[in-house]
Amino acid sequence: MFSLKIQLKLVMQTQSRTKVIDLLKSKKTGQEFTVKGWVRTKRGNKNVTFIALNDGSTIHNIQIVADVANFNENTLKLVTTGACICAKGRLVESQGSGQPVELQAVSLEVYGTADVETYPLQKKGHTLDFLREIAHLRPRTNTFGAVLRIRHAMAYAIHKYFNDNGFFYLHTPIITGSDAEGAGAMFQVTTFDIGNPPRTKDGNIDYTQDFFGKSTNLTVSGQLEGELGAMALSQIYTFGPTFRAENSNTPRHLAEFWMIEPEMAFYELDENMDLAEDFIKYLVRYALENCEDDLKFLNDMWDRELIERLKGIIATEFKRLDYIEGIEILKQSGVKFEYPVEWGVDLQSEHERYLVEQYFKRPVILINYPKEIKAFYMKQNADGKTVRAMDVLFPKIGEIIGGSQREENYDKLKSRIDELHISEKDLWWYLETRKFGTAPHSGFGMGFERLLLFVTGMSNIRDVIPFPRFPKNAEF
Ligand code: 4AD
Ligand code: MG
Repeated sequence: MFSLKIQLKLVMQTQSRTKVIDLLKSKKTGQEFTVKGWVRTKRGNKNVTFIALNDGSTIHNIQIVADVANFNENTLKLVTTGACICAKGRLVESQGSGQPVELQAVSLEVYGTADVETYPLQKKGHTLDFLREIAHLRPRTNTFGAVLRIRHAMAYAIHKYFNDNGFFYLHTPIITGSDAEGAGAMFQVTTFDIGNPPRTKDGNIDYTQDFFGKSTNLTVSGQLEGELGAMALSQIYTFGPTFRAENSNTPRHLAEFWMIEPEMAFYELDENMDLAEDFIKYLVRYALENCEDDLKFLNDMWDRELIERLKGIIATEFKRLDYIEGIEILKQSGVKFEYPVEWGVDLQSEHERYLVEQYFKRPVILINYPKEIKAFYMKQNADGKTVRAMDVLFPKIGEIIGGSQREENYDKLKSRIDELHISEKDLWWYLETRKFGTAPHSGFGMGFERLLLFVTGMSNIRDVIPFPRFPKNAEF
């Protein structure tokens, strides 16, 4: 009896508001429904008012038709672009061509007005640059609605992919005492009064008195802890925020971005590449199958080749290539790159895009990079010069994934750490995995926003995360 009551209550609550996405699909013409959302446009004449209402559940609006004679003049005046309203009415087949059904309003309630003079999204057609300055309101535009729904779908698909393939989601720490990539571009975490930190006798800052008793930072990668998980659970992945204090003001870098990092015991580089390729193709296919309306909108609005490009990726095999072969191709290309190419240089996005877009015309997985330009943990090749690294390079994006087989040999790893003057004191626990039951293993990291750049066709990474963090910007 008790549970029946609760069930009834739940049903009634859901009936009190129907989402626009469900209403547009509904065949229940003649019945009464309630919708709630934000007014996109209002137009009409002295007899009838048409309101396009959006609640974020879909890119599409529901049209609400209000006979002016049935409504208080003041209420209708408050229904302006940006206002939030609740509309009750009868579902009818639409007279217009834009939508299958519309709502013939019987009552309108205004939850929140939006002043016509000052509401920033009054007009359509704002630039993406302008929208970035009003990141608190841009989710209400068609473009950002689409991007945010696709972002959600991709996050869900990532968890689904790994879960379905027997990986465990491992939560790695956000505050760390180590520098995983050895790149040194980290944000410090401290509770010290920065104007007056405690000092040791010789004048250095005394971190033993800080919150964690040592100097700590926001993590640049969950990999090192991910490896600890893989050395017990065999296959894990992390999916969390990572932070880099590099001053890269580019359309492909953020100071705070989300990274997906699978780590697999018993995988060698080939299997790592297979996984990366299968994973990306799965995600792109998932987007095509589940985000049709939003992709179609982005395709028509911003990037006419988007959907074709996505379909193309699923159908092609990625080209796998040695770094040294890549360098040769670039040297013989005859192209005058801004950064000259020779063996040993780190590839710039102009080089990566040449290989992918001009030369191979498909994604490229570049492997076996010189050890000097890669992180300390990568497995060293027998030539003594290269490591078993892999970067997955994509059209329009450049590097979308970076990964490697890991050095599992204790002595080799330790000597590389010494060579690079990395503090062993901070990494003793990492080295211990090579001391106790070490195993060949591999993994990679995919930048979530780089994936979203590719899937949405947006061209600036600041437009695929709700509230971007980049140099001189942390407003919202
Ligand atoms: O190549 P990265 O630096 O590799 C790692 O962090 C490894 N620990 C990953 C691993 O093997 N588990 O970064 C991985 C990916 C890049 O390929 C790129 O997609 C993304 O993270 N990325 C960024 N995305 C946005 N803004 C930035 N500043 C980024 N830096 C890297
Ligand atoms: Mg990289």
